[in-house]
Amino acid sequence: MAEKTWVRMVTAQTPTNIAVIKYWGKRDETLILPVNDSISVTLDPAHLCTTTTVAVSPSFDQDRMWLNGKEISLSGGRYQNCLREIRARACAVEDKEKGIKIAKKDWEKLHLHVASYNNFPTAAGLASSAAGFACLVFALAKLMNAKEDNSELSAIARQGSGSACRSLFGGFVKWIMGKAEDGSDSLAVQLVDEKHWDELVIIIAVVSSRQKETSSTTGMRDSVETSLLLQHRAKEVVPKRIKQMEEAIKNRDFGSFAQLSCADSNQFHAVCLDTCPPIFYMNDTSHRIISCVEKWNCSEGTPQVAYTFDAGPNAVLIAHNRKAATQLMQKLLFCFPPSSDADLNSYVIGDKSILKDAGIEDIKDVEALPPPPEIKDAQRCKGDVSYFICTKPGRGPALLSDESQALLHPETGLPK
Ligand code: DP6
Repeated sequence: MAEKTWVRMVTAQTPTNIAVIKYWGKRDETLILPVNDSISVTLDPAHLCTTTTVAVSPSFDQDRMWLNGKEISLSGGRYQNCLREIRARACAVEDKEKGIKIAKKDWEKLHLHVASYNNFPTAAGLASSAAGFACLVFALAKLMNAKEDNSELSAIARQGSGSACRSLFGGFVKWIMGKAEDGSDSLAVQLVDEKHWDELVIIIAVVSSRQKETSSTTGMRDSVETSLLLQHRAKEVVPKRIKQMEEAIKNRDFGSFAQLSCADSNQFHAVCLDTCPPIFYMNDTSHRIISCVEKWNCSEGTPQVAYTFDAGPNAVLIAHNRKAATQLMQKLLFCFPPSSDADLNSYVIGDKSILKDAGIEDIKDVEALPPPPEIKDAQRCKGDVSYFICTKPGRGPALLSDESQALLHPETGLPK
């Protein structure tokens, strides 16, 4: 008897994250096991997230995936590892209303369709793989009725991209490096949720760059092979820093938080310089942003803003509170005004209320900004920043139950 065709779908949304104690270096390349623990803050998915729809149907004849509307191959080892691990945990599913009955053993034969979309430009160089793999694993776990909790799922997402394991939770998250050879204890745990320290404001400066950067995967492989500083960092520096950072977060101690974040970002980039051949992720604009923040923090006596940079020139600035964020925005817009053809509305995106607080409504207000008093002979560098994103710490993965938000067609399982 011919089986009636059906499509079962699940749609999820998962945030991206930025490390404040960096992951850099693997002790196992296939399982993606790190040489040290790391800590991150999850960014508000309203401004930076991945939405993924996964579907299963007896009518699909192969696994297929579309990323931002374009079909991509799922044959890579990282995708295959995630798919294999999640299939191994699939359980029986029954949806009487739709007449769907999937036995546990059926999952091996059934094929999947995946459509994924980032709500921020992929070209911006903001860790899209973290949100992407976390969302894929989270959505598949729900589709397949897997019973694993988010920490257990994080150990699967980790095999897609290391930093992805930290995107399974909101707030502040720690990736415990683990000891086991099979990687079973290398997973993420939530330190505190997003409500714990909700006065923090995050401003990302997307820095213009012409250069194609070395990928994190290649960069960290070279660092592990050649940098003595990386060995010292992993063994002596990070273990202590992790403890101090956990305390700072628990106590909402911004002074310690900022000092540790900046020091750790700078040490990660020092490891990159210590790599053979050396890797340069930051550029002149990145350095000018650091100098701007350092001068301000120094003039205030206590840190107002923390900075951190990943494998690229973009600055992630974490302000102590709204007041500090407002002042920071004014200083940044003075130093990095939009190029004349850009309008303010597309130059500052995300939570625009910070701009309003800063009394900036149009380009004339930017032109009228006073130079930051703590910077002698402050220069205005038009066009060096592509745009700013204002955001805050945010929540972890969520299911989207509204079918209209699905990226695949409910009847065909093909992209809408
Ligand atoms: C600098 O997670 O992108 O952002 O595990 O090889 O996929 P793979 O690398 P990835 O590396 C992230 C490195 C970093 C620091 C961090 O996020 O902790």
